[in-house]
Parts: sequence; C-alpha cells; structure tokens
Amino acid sequence: MSLEEFIDKLNMDLEYEYGAAIQYIQHQAVMSGAQYNNIAEELALHAEEELQHAIQLADQIDYLGGTPSVDVQEVKISDDAEEMLKQDLEGERGAIDRYKKRIRQAEALDEYATAETIRQILVTEQEHEMDLMDALGL
Ligand SMILES: [Fe+2]
Ligand SMILES: [Fe+2]
Repeated sequence: MSLEEFIDKLNMDLEYEYGAAIQYIQHQAVMSGAQYNNIAEELALHAEEELQHAIQLADQIDYLGGTPSVDVQEVKISDDAEEMLKQDLEGERGAIDRYKKRIRQAEALDEYATAETIRQILVTEQEHEMDLMDALGL
C-alpha cells in the first residue's frame, strides 16, 4: 500500500470517528428510562473519547502530508434504547476491525508513531465495546 492510499484509509477512519461522536451525542441525549441513566452517562464519555480520536487521527494525517477530511460517515439513530446500543456496538466492532488492519499497514510503511497512536485508540475502542456488551447483557 502506498502512503497516499494509507492516508485515504486514515481519512475514512477519521470520518467514522466524527460519525461515532455525533451518534453518541445523539444517543446519550435521547436515551431515557431509569435503567439507562448510567449507560447514557457512559455514552457521553464515549462521545468525548471519539472526538479525541478524531483529533489524533487528523494530526497524524497532517503529519503524513495529507489533508484531514471534514466529511462524516453514516450516523445511526433509533427510538429504542436497546437498538441504539446495538448500533453503537456495531460501530465499535467496525472500528476495531479497521484499526487492527491500520496498525499492520502503518508498520509496513515504517510509520511506527502512527501505528502507536492507532494502538492507543484501539485500546479505548475495545473498552467501548466491553461497556456496550455489559449494557446489553452480552
Ligand atoms: Fe474512536
Ligand atoms: Fe469507540
């Protein structure tokens, strides 16, 4: 993979991070019901962490000579709290799959600092996945 192709992939990741932040902001706001109070607070934290990921990715893209995207990937909403959590879980699993590939691609290009940054992001995506599985009783 060329550096240009890799930057394109990082920009897609960035667009997914923007989308994840927006989705969590919407979900934590509309999620109602006493049994969802704690998880709504957790989703608000996830939103902040997704924004941090977006900043980290944008900085890596700039460092590598690319222009960070301002497009946003698809955001999923629902009237049903459990469905929202399933949408969030699906998003996290997609991110985990993408970042595992991205770490390998970064290392193949000798971009070890970018790989390290993505490793740190991957750690928090796995925490998000576990939070959502707990909330869904999985
Ligand atoms: Fe993220
Ligand atoms: Fe996440």
